[in-house]
Amino acid sequence: MTRDEVARGLKDRARETEEIIRRFLPAEEGFNSAVTEAMNYSVLAGGKRLRPILMRETCHLYGQKNEEILHPFMAAIEFIHTYSLVHDDLPAMDNDDYRRGKPTTHKKYGAGMATLAGDGLLNLAFETAFRAFDLCGSESERNAVIRALRILADKAGINGMVGGQCADLQAEEQANGARTKEELLYIHTNKTAAMIESAMMIGATLAGASDEEVRRMEQAGEKIGLAFQIRDDILDVEGEASTLGKDVGSDEKNGKLTYVSMYGSAQARDDVRRLSEEAIGLTGNGTERNFLQDLIEWMITREL
Ligand code: IPE
Ligand code: IPE
Ligand code: MG
Ligand code: MG
Ligand code: MG
Repeated sequence: MTRDEVARGLKDRARETEEIIRRFLPAEEGFNSAVTEAMNYSVLAGGKRLRPILMRETCHLYGQKNEEILHPFMAAIEFIHTYSLVHDDLPAMDNDDYRRGKPTTHKKYGAGMATLAGDGLLNLAFETAFRAFDLCGSESERNAVIRALRILADKAGINGMVGGQCADLQAEEQANGARTKEELLYIHTNKTAAMIESAMMIGATLAGASDEEVRRMEQAGEKIGLAFQIRDDILDVEGEASTLGKDVGSDEKNGKLTYVSMYGSAQARDDVRRLSEEAIGLTGNGTERNFLQDLIEWMITREL
């Protein structure tokens, strides 16, 4: 596939994903409408929808055709990801004003309502994922949903995304010399790769993949996630705010520990490529090249 074809494929899939996500969003009515409005604003502002797309493509890789059960999980992972962005942008964290091409949630609704919108989205993710049980037709499907729920919960928590965000915030306060490569790897593996691992492991699990196959997708997700965050660090220095839909220079402003500040941009680029090629090797099905592999390749030089 050419880059343009991948970009078009991604756009089509993002549109389909958005239709699925919309079905699970809350109504904006009643005394809680301020929070539901802020939640819907954050989710529908835009976004590449990469995590649900990776989930679905991994599900297809393992031959699942009936993807109804996947839909609540596709919405759930995007809700958790969106909450992480809403909180990440808060004045107490990265203090950014612009996200997904729009004012950040706290800029539009205030920090209190943005905090609640994040909380609401995190909870809604699990309310939504639990609905997959209603779609199960067999004991083996119910067991797969239970395993998927555990993955969703574990990877988003203190030993996953929240843990990475914790180390990311703490690294801001340390003098440059106190920062280590191990710390940086912990930050990137947890704040970003954990959610990508989650997406791919859930896709494989709901397709009925074996434990070994799910572990393989965890490894692939870790490599893709690391490459994704390294590229994010590069784009924070070299990207275009109008293309990215978010502020650039945020890391420098906050004195963040990033891959570019630790290794320089040439090494960063090399590592994005190396990790992505390793991930492409893990995501083949032995026959022709699949969209997942084309997507991983496309992400190496993504501009958004
Ligand atoms: C941004 O994620 C936060 C990181 C983990 C780097 P995305 O680049 O996937 O953001 P959206 O969902 O497209 O807005
Ligand atoms: C955020 O990393 C990762 C999350 C868990 C939200 P960044 O702080 O680098 O993400 P951006 O650059 O604001 O999207
Ligand atoms: Mg951050
Ligand atoms: Mg940020
Ligand atoms: Mg960033």
